[in-house]
Amino acid sequence: MFKKLTLAALSALTLSTGGAYAAGGAGHIEDFAFSFEGPFGTFDQHQLQRGLQIYTEVCSSCHGMKFVPIRTLADEGGPHFSEDEVRAYAEQNFETWDPELNDGDGDFRPAKPVDFFPEGGDPAAPDLSLMAKARAGFHGPYGTGISQLVNGMGGAEYIASILTGYTGKEKEEAGTLFYENTAFPGGWIAMAPPLTGEDVEYADGHSNDLHHEAMDVSAFLMWAAEPKMMDRQRAGFVGVFFLLVLSSLLYLVNKRLWKPIKYKG
Ligand code: HEC
Repeated sequence: MFKKLTLAALSALTLSTGGAYAAGGAGHIEDFAFSFEGPFGTFDQHQLQRGLQIYTEVCSSCHGMKFVPIRTLADEGGPHFSEDEVRAYAEQNFETWDPELNDGDGDFRPAKPVDFFPEGGDPAAPDLSLMAKARAGFHGPYGTGISQLVNGMGGAEYIASILTGYTGKEKEEAGTLFYENTAFPGGWIAMAPPLTGEDVEYADGHSNDLHHEAMDVSAFLMWAAEPKMMDRQRAGFVGVFFLLVLSSLLYLVNKRLWKPIKYKG
């Protein structure tokens, strides 16, 4: 009896560290394999560029990203566009309200790299600047969050799971259309399926099926929410290395100092 119970508990534990957590009305989160997972993970520059394309062509008609400066698109470790590309991107895609134009009355002008991404057009659509950090995909096992140590918080997985989690069912409530979604807590979301696959044409010829599009834009939103992740990891490794060197030196010093006392007679 006892043996059986432990086995069941163990298998439940391994299952839930895999990402699925179906209790308490939370949705089902699929465990996507992102390049930035784990302590040695890095953002894939080309994936971030494709994700930006999806964000720009699809998501930005409703959602904003008002805490992300456009110039960061040139940052190393991010999409890493050239300064000229970023300038052209800002100009071609967004307009910014400039209060100094038009003799102080203000007017719109094409966006510049120093501007932030604009707010979204749909007031019901939340800002996506920090969405990948604001949501956790992994909660298990049993709500302890231990799987987050291994898999990360799962914010990108959460977003990708939402984008791929539509069942096709709809219902109307109080004049609003809701769409059934297996990843969204509660199961019904007010966002119509934004991606169906082949929504954009990638310049690099990468697959644009629903699965890849969802991963690309989720990776991009992860970078937007935490652009310094790679720097932070690198600083961590330098720190640990330094502490290891320091510890071994201290150990040798300690041995040497105590030697005459320990071996006196
Ligand atoms: C037609 C407008 C529209 C488009 C286009 C759109 N969204 Fe949404 N989105 C919404 C609305 C409205 C909500 C709020 C839904 C709710 O709370 O039920 C939302 C919610 C979300 C959420 C939040 C879920 C949560 O946990 O609160 C995420 C993540 C999201 N959208 C991502 C995206 C991404 C990524 C894209 C582009 C691929 C996109 N959306 C395109 C309207 C849109």
